Amino acid sequence: MAISEQPNHAEHSPQSVSEDEANERRRFARLLLAGAITAYAAPFPYVLYQFLVAPAFRHKPASPLALGSAESLFVTQNYIATKLGDKNVMLLRSADGIKAFNLRCTHAGCTVEWQPNMQKFVCHCHGGEFHADGSVAKIPPTKPLEELTIKHENGQIVVYDAVMR
Ligand code: FES
Repeated sequence: MAISEQPNHAEHSPQSVSEDEANERRRFARLLLAGAITAYAAPFPYVLYQFLVAPAFRHKPASPLALGSAESLFVTQNYIATKLGDKNVMLLRSADGIKAFNLRCTHAGCTVEWQPNMQKFVCHCHGGEFHADGSVAKIPPTKPLEELTIKHENGQIVVYDAVMR
């Protein structure tokens, strides 16, 4: 009998079958372990990003802005536009007192304009409108304009980059 015609007993022996099963079980156990490690470690990049990278991109409040006395600000009209950091801001004097609004439309972020003849803030992007107190007058915006904190300090009106409470 030639060597090539000899049956290969090692391939089908009971010992070889149990070794294959053992290898299959080890492979499955390794896959299970790898899956568990991946599931456990997956949140770590997100956590690292939140603690190390994201703070650098968070909004830092602008320094308070001292504008002068009310008498010097509202000489010819009852409103004045200014900048506070990267925000367009309007101070408006009405029967309720002096208020400061962030002119960023709460719908999609366009800049609203004060329309003295309408006594409203108007957004030209989608037609939204806000009353003089910042509340919504016409949708699509659903949230009022952001009202910023104002303080009277040493005879001056000071605007803070902080939402009025
Ligand atoms: S962004 Fe102002 S109405 Fe849409």
